[in-house]
This record gives sequence, structure tokens and C-alpha cells, in this order.
Amino acid sequence: MGKSFRLVLRACVALGVSAYVIAEDGEEQKPKHTIEQVMEKALKGGGLNKKVADGKASNEEKLQLLDMYISLLENKPPKGDNASWQKLAGATALAAAKVAVGRPGAEAELKKATNCKACHSEHKPAKKE
Ligand code: HEC
Repeated sequence: MGKSFRLVLRACVALGVSAYVIAEDGEEQKPKHTIEQVMEKALKGGGLNKKVADGKASNEEKLQLLDMYISLLENKPPKGDNASWQKLAGATALAAAKVAVGRPGAEAELKKATNCKACHSEHKPAKKE
């Protein structure tokens, strides 16, 4: 029993350490992806968003996209008010969720929800060094 007990103990210590790291970051848990990561991976140059909106993505990719759009909501916008952000980012997550569960017409809704200009004009800082 000695060996497995030590393994369990070690796992508990490891979990305790990671919980501590999260706690040190403050009250709120860190978003899984930053806004910049989502832009780079999902939206820039078409990216995963286009693949999903064109109906060419696997189920796993659809869930990846949803995961990233949920992260948008976990972030605070660098510009603009939070209510508007919740609405615009929320629409991307809802549309991605509808695609993932196979709702008819969801791809068109996703294309509409990911209008770059509509969101950038509200929430993207004009210039950032
Ligand atoms: C729901 C809102 C939203 C939508 C939709 C959106 N963006 Fe963004 N995007 C942002 C925000 C906010 C930033 C600024 C992030 C920052 O500076 O922290 C940004 C920044 C970017 C950046 C710069 C990333 C960086 O490294 O700073 C690129 C590139 C980008 N978006 C591409 C796109 C493209 C292409 C589309 C459309 C296909 C799009 N975005 C749609 C909110 C959005």
C-alpha cells in the first residue's frame, strides 16, 4: 500500500500547488485564451471561424471554436463598455454553440456574429504598442 499511497499524496500536493497558483492570480480565474489568441487562431485571415462557418469543420473543431469564443466572454474588452462586449462576444459564442449542436441556419448566424468591423469599432483600441 505504501507506493500507491505516496502517489496519491503526491497528486494532492501537485493539485494544491496549482490551486495556489490560480489563487495568487486574484479572485477571478484567468481566461483560457486571451482575446489576441482568439483573434490569431480563430479569426485572422479566415482561420477556424471561416472553416466552421463554411461547414467544413469537424465536430472537434467546432468545439474548439466555441471554447475560444467562451474565452472572449471571460476577458474584459481593452476598449468600450462591458455590456456591449457581453452582447457582441456573447453572440459569437451563442452562434458557435448553435453550429456545434447542428441547429439549422447556424452557420449564417455565425458569419453575422463575427463581423470584424462591428466589433473592432467598439472594442479594439485604435493603436497599441
Ligand atoms: C466580438 C468582437 C470581435 C470580433 C467579432 C472580431 N474581433 Fe478582432 N479584436 C477584437 C478586440 C477586442 C481586439 C483587440 C484585442 C486587444 O488589443 O487586446 C481585436 C484584435 C484583433 C486583431 C489584432 C490582434 C492582436 O494581436 O492584437 C486581429 C488581427 C483581429 N482582431 C482580427 C479579426 C478579424 C479578421 C475578425 C473578423 C473575421 C475579427 N477580428 C472579429 C474583437 C473582435
